Amino acid sequence: MTHKIDELVDAFANARSVFVFTGAGASKESGLPTFREIDGEWNQYDPMTYATLDGFLSEPVRVWNMYRLRQRQIGDAQPNAAHIVIAQMESRYPHFLLTTQNVDDLHERAGSRKMVKIHGDCWGMRCMHCSEVFDTREFSLPDEFTSETLPRCPHCEVLCRPNIVWFGEFVPDEAMFASIERASSCDVMLVVGTSGEVSGGYGFVERASMHGATIVEINPTEGILTQHAHLWIPEPAGVALPKLWQSLTGLGRNSLPPA
Ligand code: APR
Repeated sequence: MTHKIDELVDAFANARSVFVFTGAGASKESGLPTFREIDGEWNQYDPMTYATLDGFLSEPVRVWNMYRLRQRQIGDAQPNAAHIVIAQMESRYPHFLLTTQNVDDLHERAGSRKMVKIHGDCWGMRCMHCSEVFDTREFSLPDEFTSETLPRCPHCEVLCRPNIVWFGEFVPDEAMFASIERASSCDVMLVVGTSGEVSGGYGFVERASMHGATIVEINPTEGILTQHAHLWIPEPAGVALPKLWQSLTGLGRNSLPPA
């Protein structure tokens, strides 16, 4: 593995433009579940009910209460060493973008700013009429909704939905364009903790590969993106990224929280 980490360091040492793409695996060591692993969300909740507009419209109380539970889990979680290293990488490279599929706010809480979220934000709620987005934390909402207490738009009084991009819906244009631009121009693309099962990620990797970027994947399990990686680090993100950071910067582990 040392050899692999040395190759990883070489890939990053001379880069000027870095594109980081993360999935639920980046938050696993913070105690948050992924989606498709054996203990993942989609084995507990049917995605057709909990991650589609039709599912929400047919079961708004059940869907909102799953997101309220996820908000509590995310609120109790802390950024792990992977989030910290990715945040610190921003200032090291003249051109940097983090694109995350994650709806938690652990990247932001770790200090990431040059980032876009392509699947929404767990704390947001969006009016189904005027589409205005609100932060649920600014309202005194119950931990569990009933049909009478579902959140409504303060302006239209129409039902609000979670501000999540569900299956069959489009990623926000600005986030998609920024991600495509960085994927098409980066020297290194770092793929962390995603199965690649959702099309956006696969497209980013193809674009990076087409212009000759070095593609690095950090994931304990081989997946559909691994075949495109020049370097696959089969380790947890919270273990591999501090090693990379220590080798790149000489900063010991004391500059990072324990994985
Ligand atoms: N470090 C790195 N990777 C990890 C770790 C870890 N500690 N633990 C698990 N993984 C990997 C798994 O091996 C798996 O490949 O994280 C990946 C998680 O895959 P998914 O559960 O499919 O999650 P993700 O790829 O983020 O899903 C993408 O699908 O359902 C939609 O909107 C949802 O954003 C989500 C999207």
